[in-house]
Amino acid sequence: MSVLGVLTAGGDCPGLNAVIRGVVARAEERDAEVVGVLNGWEGLMQGRITPLDRDAVRGILTRGGTILGTSRMDPYVHGDGYASCERTINANGIDSLIVVGGDGTLRSALKLSEEGLPVVGVPKTIDNDICGTDMTFGFDTAVGIATEAIDRLATTAEAHNRVIVVEVMGRTKGWIATYAGIAGGADAIIVPEFDYDIDDIVDTLKRRHRKGIRYSIVVVAEGVTPPPGYEPVEQRKDAFGFDRLGGVGYLIAAAIEDRTGFESRVSVLGHMQRGGTPSAFDRVLATRLGVAAADLAIDGESGIMVALRSMCIEPVPLSEAVDSIRGVPERLFETARTFFG
Ligand code: F6P
Repeated sequence: MSVLGVLTAGGDCPGLNAVIRGVVARAEERDAEVVGVLNGWEGLMQGRITPLDRDAVRGILTRGGTILGTSRMDPYVHGDGYASCERTINANGIDSLIVVGGDGTLRSALKLSEEGLPVVGVPKTIDNDICGTDMTFGFDTAVGIATEAIDRLATTAEAHNRVIVVEVMGRTKGWIATYAGIAGGADAIIVPEFDYDIDDIVDTLKRRHRKGIRYSIVVVAEGVTPPPGYEPVEQRKDAFGFDRLGGVGYLIAAAIEDRTGFESRVSVLGHMQRGGTPSAFDRVLATRLGVAAADLAIDGESGIMVALRSMCIEPVPLSEAVDSIRGVPERLFETARTFFG
């Protein structure tokens, strides 16, 4: 009987539990065993393992977070790669590892597979920036939360004749900002992929005022550069070495207020976008990915990840996924721009 290990690493996102449940259910159907690795790569390096069966995953489909826990530790950043995981792998007879993570996690998964450990990846992130897949689970939920926030902020902005800058997550990419901005009818959207001129944004808002519309919603991705003359505070780093983002919305709101005199406020949505129950779309996508990953792992495949392509779940080389980070395409942002102002 083959033994599959499953771990979730990096920032959590809604749908992780649905993947774990999918892996366990399919494995049980095919007479394979599953063990869960606690707290991401850290648990693999420290030997923190728990058995998983159908009873252990009952009721978790709708739950946010991950029953296994996660961390931003990494065997190639904080350890010696495969050598730091070998003892846990051997002690638990793990034949294949299913790794659920974002680009950093998948890069380490690829390296482990190159060192000889059979690995199947499952792409996850609310940022939707992983190459090789049409969409990542967690993104749809995050967009839904951000859109609801924009809807709510628009009514209070209108009541007070204010500009509200809504800052959303996405790290270096503007997928959440673009989707939520289109869905929420934003008057301007600023994303890292495309340069912006704060004076153009200001002109757009002033035009609205001249027409008698005295409130505006500006959606900003957390990874954009501040307007010239508005310096960011130094960012702290996370355990992986990435900047902890957040706060650029305040600088953009200040630049708008300084140039227009329009009263401006900021709402940084932050981790709200990552918490809570997954949307129906994400539950289904995550379930399909979990089942497919179990199948591939049991079949002895390695160095691949499961991906959504044209509505089908397909295996894709991990090398393709970690090649670069996927940004918002020009044509999509052009659609968003059509509605500015
Ligand atoms: O990558 C997912 C993400 O939520 C980014 O959008 C965000 O910048 C980052 O993680 C936040 O990470 P942390 O939970 O470590 O603050």
